Amino acid sequence: MIPKTLRSTGITTKSIYSKGWIRSKSAVAVSTPPNTLYTTTPIFYVNANPHLGHLYSMLLCDTRNRWEKLNPRAKTFFTTGTDEHGLKIQTVAEKQNISPKDLTDKVSQNFKVLATDLDIDYDRFIRTTDQDHVKAVQFFWELMQEKGYLYEGSHSGWYSVSDETFYPETQIEPIEGNPGKMRSKETKSEVVYQQESNYFFKLSAFQDRLIEYLETNPDFIIPKTKYTQLLNELKEGPIGDLSVSRPSSRLTWGIPVPNDPSQRIYVWFDALINYITSCGFPNSFIRDKETGLFKSGNAWPATHVIGKDIIRFHCIYWPIFLMAAGIELPEKVVVHSHWLSDGFKMSKSLGNVVDPQATAAYYGQDSLRFFLMEYSNIESDCNYREDQFHFTRETIIGKFANLITRCGGSAFNIEKSVEYAKSGKYEQIDELIGKYSIKTDIEEVKLARDKLEMTANSLYSTMNSHIVQFDQSKAIGEWWSLVERANELFQTAQPWLYTKALKDVDLNAEDREALLTLQLYYTYLAAESSRIACILINPIMPKLSTMLLDRLNVDPTRRNADFAAIGSDLSYGHGANEKTHKIPIVRIPMRETNL
Ligand code: MSP
Repeated sequence: MIPKTLRSTGITTKSIYSKGWIRSKSAVAVSTPPNTLYTTTPIFYVNANPHLGHLYSMLLCDTRNRWEKLNPRAKTFFTTGTDEHGLKIQTVAEKQNISPKDLTDKVSQNFKVLATDLDIDYDRFIRTTDQDHVKAVQFFWELMQEKGYLYEGSHSGWYSVSDETFYPETQIEPIEGNPGKMRSKETKSEVVYQQESNYFFKLSAFQDRLIEYLETNPDFIIPKTKYTQLLNELKEGPIGDLSVSRPSSRLTWGIPVPNDPSQRIYVWFDALINYITSCGFPNSFIRDKETGLFKSGNAWPATHVIGKDIIRFHCIYWPIFLMAAGIELPEKVVVHSHWLSDGFKMSKSLGNVVDPQATAAYYGQDSLRFFLMEYSNIESDCNYREDQFHFTRETIIGKFANLITRCGGSAFNIEKSVEYAKSGKYEQIDELIGKYSIKTDIEEVKLARDKLEMTANSLYSTMNSHIVQFDQSKAIGEWWSLVERANELFQTAQPWLYTKALKDVDLNAEDREALLTLQLYYTYLAAESSRIACILINPIMPKLSTMLLDRLNVDPTRRNADFAAIGSDLSYGHGANEKTHKIPIVRIPMRETNL
């Protein structure tokens, strides 16, 4: 069994120490301590503007990260950013007649705005043009060189600028109707035959170790189907070495290879390192002088969330680079499927790209976040449909927001219902239900109440078991069952009937108190369900849930998992039934669109 921290040959590199990048153990400053949930999105190419698929990668991470933060003792770190070097960017900049720097500044900003608009709560937005990243990449390169994993060679093969990768002969095919032109079988992007000298990385030397690592760590890649697929691919035959630089004459927009101005670093080598730059590589890592291994004094190792098209880079190249460097491997790689629109992968040329910002501007960011998380699963592709989205939004209003609007109506009194709970006035409630219920089937009401309490009190742990597996959709399904049960109880118990009964001037004090207690009890259960539902849906709908918790007047320090059980917070409700509250989400017609 290979331990999580893999052993490497560990040559001591004097030059690295002399550059002062590695601090001594005592000098290590850690802003993100170990045992942190460190989540990363892929860094996005800046050749085109963001679309719904990019937002999906961000959202899977953001909701996972926000979920972790519901535990007030959790430590988290979450990064996203942009991948700015390479031939692809260089080519687009040339076509637009602007400098690559201007292009990357402009488009990177668009991704940042997307994140802000959709409430993506990242800790660092990394750009591969950031100076600390450029230094980290060059440091990593020198480390590989000193360990003897790089060699010079000449390379010929079929390169796809769009995918920034070479393809072997077996993975390309002629483009129909375009004689002489070839493309990748998998991505259908054009490939061009290129011959050049460059540096190679000894990827093949690590193939067996990676296979062994994967076999002993079967949860390294989720879902299982992707794990099996990758492991089988690795076992099929030799993986070969990897070309990790391009001639500067061809690629001008890339990080220079240290001490060799004729070469630039290959964009994937550069991009993958972003995950350790963000948590302070190399400064915040401690290097053992004897073994040469790097020990994380920070948030590393990360849980990477990636789309299925970039699995090879993250599950073969990246773990091998890390093994070679003597750095602990990632915690996990979560591979997600794609969003299609009209049944096809979104692309500009097909004209089926869904603009996340325009969509959020029309429907609100929370509805879009909720829909994307509810209607997807990481295993299979999902199809964007405007009518389904509109229906989801209507359901949020009809079932969830409406529950709070009902018990928050002027006929009820949430504040008093909470006070009654605090002073133990519901202790004999079953007796009162038996004796004073109006027009209700007593057993039905008790059963609905029991089911509701059970669902509410176990909801955090049930949702948690799905979210740690990045199955946000199943977690949302569990959440709906709380909302549905709360509505069911309200409908069965009909607390509004007690208002009329209480108006009877001939009621004696005992009966009056009993009827009032029953009405307050049902109000309380609806308010408690709403409060818990708001806390637990916060990672998916941060704005709406906050507005609703504000309306219930829940103390901001009590909006976390410690308070996600009935009776765990007995201090809210003041002003919740005042008439001045605005409705936080209103019905709107479906947008005119061809999707
Ligand atoms: N720059 C590389 C990643 C480097 S990470 C070290 C890259 N960028 S990308 O902009 O092309 O894609 C970024 C992410 O968006 C990938 O995970 C990709 O799978 C995801 N998506 C792009 N289109 C998508 C959909 N239509 N649906 C869901 N996600 C998709 O690859």
